Amino acid sequence: MKKFNVAVLPGDGIGSEIVAEAVKVLKTIEKKTNVEFVLTEALVGGASIDAYGRPLTDETLSIALKSDAVLLGAVGGTKWEGLEYSMRPERALLALRKELGLFANLRPARIYKPLIDASTLKPEVIDGVDLMVVRELTGGLYFGAPRGVEKLPDGAERGVNTMVYTTPEIERIACAAFDAARKRTKKLCSVDKANVLETTELWRRVVIRVGKDYPDVALSHMYVDNCAMQLVRNPKQFDVIVTENMFGDILSDEASMLTGSIGMLPSASLGAAKNRAMYEPIHGSAPDIAGKGIANPIATILSVAMMLKYSFDMEDAAAKIETAVENVLEKGFRTADIYSVGKTGTRRVSCAEMGAAIVKELA
Ligand code: IPM
Ligand code: MG
Repeated sequence: MKKFNVAVLPGDGIGSEIVAEAVKVLKTIEKKTNVEFVLTEALVGGASIDAYGRPLTDETLSIALKSDAVLLGAVGGTKWEGLEYSMRPERALLALRKELGLFANLRPARIYKPLIDASTLKPEVIDGVDLMVVRELTGGLYFGAPRGVEKLPDGAERGVNTMVYTTPEIERIACAAFDAARKRTKKLCSVDKANVLETTELWRRVVIRVGKDYPDVALSHMYVDNCAMQLVRNPKQFDVIVTENMFGDILSDEASMLTGSIGMLPSASLGAAKNRAMYEPIHGSAPDIAGKGIANPIATILSVAMMLKYSFDMEDAAAKIETAVENVLEKGFRTADIYSVGKTGTRRVSCAEMGAAIVKELA
């Protein structure tokens, strides 16, 4: 029997609620296959600050490093917002990404037919949207030095962050994106700001060079401001989008709203080795609805599907989860974020009810 170690890091806010449902899905898959998932739970983010005074302890990091994959809920919350940057919950997430070497962040956004009216965009614009943002995750503005805020002699303050990329960093994310595009419709759009930022001009040159090894993939380039506009104007023109860390953070939130709710988007963060992988919803800890049991667990459940596909080569099981999600949406189950009042055939359900419905569908 195959055995996989999964580190389970629920984190803060709605994290524990959504991860609980995703774990139920994982256990259901376990029962139906000849695979064992050994789950090790640990604290991360604000929860870890409260317990140990630090957002990421050596122990949690070592659990993550020893596992075959990490399942993460969300980190952060108003409670910890006053802390110094290096002590904030978000640092745990960034440190995990960095320490595990998770440079490639895959964020697929696809429209589920039953949710077409949950989007703020016109049905004809979003019907059939199926794209993937490949976000560089361990470089760029998030990690570049120098960084920080300093006091100037005149009493004013000066804040600095730096967008840095080296050729090898761009090459590996470009390869990851071309590989992803190859498995889809062989269309890749590289997003930069090459008309203004030298770093991203280098980005464009390197992506073009890497593209020579992928003659079967149609490569195009777009400035990030234009891409933000095109995503709401005509999202169907995109298949795979590859971009810098910060641009990818912003564009993937934008892409999520095409689908009606940020509560629907999963993600996979992958490193160079097979056992370097973390799966998490793209949304945050939503402190405003934490503890109310109304969060949407679908993004986390779909992240489990990505885990099965990318880390454990369990494509069939992954597809079954995706179908189960589609079916419960078809049957009218809606968490608050995707519920529209007065729509016949739909029913507003809690986080746990949504999880249970998906598990039932699977079983
Ligand atoms: C995301 C989040 C994180 C990021 C935050 C929580 C640090 O917004 O995963 O998109 O900015 O990367
Ligand atoms: Mg984000």
